[in-house]
Amino acid sequence: MRRSDPCSDRKDPKPPQMLRTLGIETSCDETAVAVLDRDGRVEANLLASQIGAHAPFGGVVPELASREHLKALPLLAEQALAAATGPIELVAVTAGPGLVGALLVGVRFAAAFAWGSSLPLVAVDHLEGHLVSPFLDLDGAPVRPEPERVLALVASGGHSSWYLMRDGSRQRLGRTRDDAAGESFDKVAQVLGVGYPGGPAMDALARAGDDSVVPLPRPRLKDAPLDFSFSGLKSAAIRWLRENELEAAGPGDTSRRVADFAASFEAAVVDQLLAPLDELAAVYRPQLVTVAGGVAANTLLRRRISEWGQRRSVEVLLPARPLTTDNAAMIAHAGQIRYREGHRNDARRLDARAREAWQPPGMRAAVESCGEAEVR
Ligand code: KG4
Ligand code: ZN
Repeated sequence: MRRSDPCSDRKDPKPPQMLRTLGIETSCDETAVAVLDRDGRVEANLLASQIGAHAPFGGVVPELASREHLKALPLLAEQALAAATGPIELVAVTAGPGLVGALLVGVRFAAAFAWGSSLPLVAVDHLEGHLVSPFLDLDGAPVRPEPERVLALVASGGHSSWYLMRDGSRQRLGRTRDDAAGESFDKVAQVLGVGYPGGPAMDALARAGDDSVVPLPRPRLKDAPLDFSFSGLKSAAIRWLRENELEAAGPGDTSRRVADFAASFEAAVVDQLLAPLDELAAVYRPQLVTVAGGVAANTLLRRRISEWGQRRSVEVLLPARPLTTDNAAMIAHAGQIRYREGHRNDARRLDARAREAWQPPGMRAAVESCGEAEVR
């Protein structure tokens, strides 16, 4: 029998309230478990990073990621449950997109937990988690309600897109045509030899640099003014490093040239990400602009978008830095929203999907773009 909504197994009448939720995220290289109370207050937000395991390979090794998740997840879950101030009522888990072996560890763990405890289970789309992350607070406040019209940038290692969040629906408005912003930071940082992940290393180097020193292109796509591209910028940056003999300069090189390069590259990435913003704001007149995903931790991006908001008198909401990169608090909250919308998944049948996603109905048109696996 064909179900009308492939993203959930069943739709119940909308329950009036959110539930205390256990959230689980294992889509890439962070094992994360969180508990949110009925008001979306973060009671626990725990993370076991695998960066050390993958760093020697310069990127995430899928097989290694699954093994690390298997080791870390039961311990983290035990700690998160101990921090909860009441009984868990709902289980939410990232079911895609991501590395399928890594996702499966979280999905089967969550399903077994929900089944064994007779709790409802909801599958969450990883990107939906990033989209709701700015509304969470890590200082004990309830989750902030979404206003009617939000313009949201998700910029991470696998995705770079602008969305309109309107009345619970999500619509993708602009996206990268090639690399993601975080991926371009990681690849350029790898050539420079400053380690993995590259974004935080480039951010730190850039703070001492002059962004006007290295001329780098900011190509725009004539036929798609709301889309952006990073591959031309990345190639030009790598070429400049080779021509200037800074390939594999390494983390110990704190010379002026390295700092100026990092600052110039970072400024070009931020310019690309923010290029469509004026036009998007003019068309959609948002009450709020948000930035989410790992690149939302970037110092210059945070400053530039805040300045834009002040200039334009539009409120800008940025996630707390620990909620920019992958975490389970955002997955728990996205699960609370899906549950309140009536979605349920069958614990005996829930599977992980590398590319397909579990979108809210209004975001269905964006499934293809959101389906890019977060494989680096
Ligand atoms: O959201 P995330 O943890 O994982 C994905 O869903 O992809 O994002 C990770 C990405 C990496 O590419 C990393 O280099 C980048 O976010 N990143 C940054 C910064 N911190 C993390 N990029 C620029 N500046 C930063 N401070
Ligand atoms: Zn992510």
